Amino acid sequence: MSQVHLELTQVGIDFPTPKGPFNALRDVNLKIGQGEFVSLIGHSGCGKSTVLNIVAGLYQATSGGVVLNGREVNSPGPERAVVFQNHSLLPWLTVYDNVALAVKQVFKGQKSRAEMRDWIEHNLALVQMTHAMHKRPGEISGGMKQRVGIARALAMEPQVLLMDEPFGALDALTRAHLQDSLMDIQATLGNTVIMITHDVDEAVLLSDRIVMMTNGPSATIGEVLPVSLERPRNRLDLVDSPEYNECRSAVLRFLYEKQKKIESIDAKRKAKKSWAQKLKITG
Ligand SMILES: Nc1ncnc2c1ncn2[C@@H]1O[C@H](COP(=O)(O)OP(=O)(O)O)[C@@H](O)[C@H]1O
Ligand SMILES: [Mg+2]
Repeated sequence: MSQVHLELTQVGIDFPTPKGPFNALRDVNLKIGQGEFVSLIGHSGCGKSTVLNIVAGLYQATSGGVVLNGREVNSPGPERAVVFQNHSLLPWLTVYDNVALAVKQVFKGQKSRAEMRDWIEHNLALVQMTHAMHKRPGEISGGMKQRVGIARALAMEPQVLLMDEPFGALDALTRAHLQDSLMDIQATLGNTVIMITHDVDEAVLLSDRIVMMTNGPSATIGEVLPVSLERPRNRLDLVDSPEYNECRSAVLRFLYEKQKKIESIDAKRKAKKSWAQKLKITG
C-alpha cells in the first residue's frame, strides 16, 4: 500500500436506545492508502453507514478513532466530502446553486467568480446534468438528484470521497456511466475513496480492496479482499476475466455462506407470530 492516508483504529460505537446502549460496531481496524479505492460491503443494517459517518466526523466513535493525514477526525470537514444514500440537496436552491454553495465554501479566495462558474459547470457536465442546472430538486428525478450530489462532492476536490450507496437508486445504464466517470475522475485526481455498496459487481469493478463486514450487532470487519485487476478497467473485458470472477465469488461466498442472514429467519418467525396474534384479536 502507498502511504497510509486514513486509519481507523479499534473503532467501536454504542448508540443510546431506550433499552440501553446498542453496540453497533466493535474493533474496526483499517488502514487506507493515499488514492486507494475501498468498498464496504455487508448485509443491510450491519453498520456500513455508521462507519462512513464516523469517518465523515458526523458520528463520534465510542471507542477508538479515525486519523486522517496524521490528525484525529472529530468533526466534518471539506476535505472529506460525503455523497449520502438519499440525496441531500437544499430544495430551495437550483441544481447549479447547490453545487455553487459547496464550491464557494471550499474555493473562496482561491478561484475567481468566472473560474468558480466554469468549475461548477464542469462538474455538472461530468454527471450529465448541464441541461437541468437551473431546475430545483423538486423538479428532477431521484437519479438526477443523486447525480447532483455526486457533482457537488467532486466539485469540492476532496482528499477523501465518502459515498454511501451512491448509485443504488439509479437505472443500470446511468449507473454504469457514472461508475466509469468515477473511475476516470479518481484516476485523474487520485483521491482516496470509501464507497458503500450492496452490488458485488460494482465493488469488484471499482475497488482496490473490498472490506466485508460481519452482521451486527457488534459488527466488525470479517474479511478484506484485494482486487488487483489492472486499471483502467473495462467492464466488458472483465466478464471473461478469471480473476474478476474469482473476486466476485469470494464476495458472494462471504455474504451468502459465511454471513448468511440468520436474523431474517428469526424476523420472519416474529412477523408470523405477530400476525397470528393480530388475527386472534380481530378474528
Ligand atoms: N443514530 C442511531 N441510533 C440508534 N441506532 C442506530 C443509529 N444509527 C444506526 N443505528 C443502528 O446501527 C446499526 C447499523 O446501522 P447502519 O450503519 O445504518 O447499517 P447499514 O448502513 O449497514 O445498513 C443498525 O442496527 C441501526 O439500527
Ligand atoms: Mg446504510
